Amino acid sequence: MKRKKIFTLGTAACLFLGSFSGCSGGIQGKEPKSIKIGVTVYDQYDTFVSQLMEEFGAYAGRKEDETGVAINVEIYNAADSQTTQNSQVEEMLDDGCNVICVNLVDRTEPTTIIDLAEKNQVPVIFFNRELVEEDLERWEQLYYVGAKAFESGIMQGEIAADMFQAHPEADKNGDGIFQYTVLEGEAGHQDAIVRTEYSVSTLVENGVEVEKLGYAIANWNRAQAQTKMTQMLSEYGEEIELVLANNDDMALGAIDALKASGLEQDRWPVIVGIDGTDVGLAAVASGEMAGTVYNDKKGQAEAMLNLAYQLSVGGDLTELGLEEGKYIRLPYAKVRAEEVEDYIENSRPST
Ligand code: BGC
Repeated sequence: MKRKKIFTLGTAACLFLGSFSGCSGGIQGKEPKSIKIGVTVYDQYDTFVSQLMEEFGAYAGRKEDETGVAINVEIYNAADSQTTQNSQVEEMLDDGCNVICVNLVDRTEPTTIIDLAEKNQVPVIFFNRELVEEDLERWEQLYYVGAKAFESGIMQGEIAADMFQAHPEADKNGDGIFQYTVLEGEAGHQDAIVRTEYSVSTLVENGVEVEKLGYAIANWNRAQAQTKMTQMLSEYGEEIELVLANNDDMALGAIDALKASGLEQDRWPVIVGIDGTDVGLAAVASGEMAGTVYNDKKGQAEAMLNLAYQLSVGGDLTELGLEEGKYIRLPYAKVRAEEVEDYIENSRPST
């Protein structure tokens, strides 16, 4: 679906654009009546990204109530095409957006968007799919909101190490070695590379001897992960003692494969995910997943919106926690059986 606008949030139209220089910011000391924020996501069907957008929409409503400024949010789906996303940014600029938030399809290809934004003097907040530092440095009005990828890998490794050390039955063949497989996100995505590296090194640093049996790229996707896990199960069967999944959707794909294989749950490998999506949390609560690592969608959505708001009204950025004037990175948190209920309670966006 090219250039498809998927939904519009907010109430008022963007009435004030003519009064600003371009449409990049507000007038110091004079709040506009409304602002317009354009967002483009790489794939609207990505579970984590769609829940992040739900939070963004819910928070826009709360912020609107709090400030009295109408906040129009337009969200587009790039449907995995960088070319489509570039056209969407052009459309949003033509439409008079004050700020554009971009979840890049290809994080190595931000050039067209940066050039367009700079030409129109409209700030860009990249999120979730991190561009390299040199690209972010190309113009002073470029920002990034995300999380500390290495932290999620460390926490996942710690959850797995605790399982191995506290539950002797996790070592199914009793050889003192944790035989594992990895389900990895997209090749080239900063979170995929870093999560795998840190979760395995953390296991080792925590004194767990590991052996890699298999590895497969499943592009963050549940169905692809199910297929890959089915293949690994036919190759290694019950030799697999641990599944490290770069995100919850892929952990759930592994669970789908295990269910389809007919293996009793008490003979499943330990499965650990990352994200704490609604479905991921439910799987931790049911005991199908040993744990996950909460990727703070709420914190990221609020940070993005607060930054977009301040940029739109020409407000102060000093209270927003920007590192190097450009980055906001939210921390992760471990979610095991003992923490999961708190996260389930807080996981629906408050409107
Ligand atoms: C999330 C994944 C998601 C990906 C999309 C990651 O941070 O953990 O679930 O698919 O971002 O870019």
